[in-house]
Amino acid sequence: MTGFPPDWLALRAPFDGRARDKALARKFVAALPRSPLIVDLGAGTGANVLALAPLAGPGARFRLIDNDRALLEIAEARLAGSMPFEVVPGDLVRDIEGATADADGITASALMDLVSERWFDALAALAVSRHLPLFFTLTVDGRHELTPADGDDGRIFAAFARDQRRDKGFGLALGPDAPRHMQDRLRTLGARVSLADSDWKIGGDGRELMVAFIAGVAEAAVRAAPADAATSASWLARRQKQIDDGSLSLTVGHQDLLALW
Ligand SMILES: C[S@@+](CC[C@H](N)C(=O)[O-])C[C@H]1O[C@@H](n2cnc3c(N)ncnc32)[C@H](O)[C@@H]1O
Repeated sequence: MTGFPPDWLALRAPFDGRARDKALARKFVAALPRSPLIVDLGAGTGANVLALAPLAGPGARFRLIDNDRALLEIAEARLAGSMPFEVVPGDLVRDIEGATADADGITASALMDLVSERWFDALAALAVSRHLPLFFTLTVDGRHELTPADGDDGRIFAAFARDQRRDKGFGLALGPDAPRHMQDRLRTLGARVSLADSDWKIGGDGRELMVAFIAGVAEAAVRAAPADAATSASWLARRQKQIDDGSLSLTVGHQDLLALW
């Protein structure tokens, strides 16, 4: 069992694909030297590389780093023959410097809300010292818009946000504070930072993702506030019913961030 099951990554992939800010992605690749080595942190099954490769052009090379070998095997099979790349099993907590030593640009998708302030600041320090372009996509920012609204949404999502700040292996996670922290830190170091919304907009075509997301929110809310388990259970039941009858739509806020020097 992996921390990020491939089924979950596959389920979110089309919504991630629609949400990614293509203009920022183009600015990232435009800032790189010829034939760049682009390092993708927490690459999973390769979604970020697959999104960037068509924009980066034929000379670009990719390094996919992840501590989950099973996910990297899937990435390897998906990318084989389509571009120069290598997969590198490795723990980003232990060796971010070695993993990025020869990088021309660093990217990650759906990773930065999992990392800690301290870990991010070390990465930012490393990037400023070599003026490395950074492009971090699909970082959650804590916005959730559900239609119709429910009286318990506020309480449930407050508990969900507390759970998102749990330690995910990097120390206490930035969670929904990640976009603001990244922006502040990188600007302090002198970067030109651009941000763009990259929200999931889930309607009738996203029933499966909605079911999984809503169940995940309720589970996380119970973890963060066990005393409110009954509230979470009845909220989940109401939301499931609305998904079943097609009356629920959902926006999950994310941000894409580009930093240039
Ligand atoms: C939410 S998934 C995103 C995967 C992929 N970037 C995508 O957008 O589909 C987070 C990824 O970070 C990886 N990861 C988490 N902690 C890690 C660590 N300490 N070292 C390396 N990879 C890690 C997970 O295995 C997973 O593939």
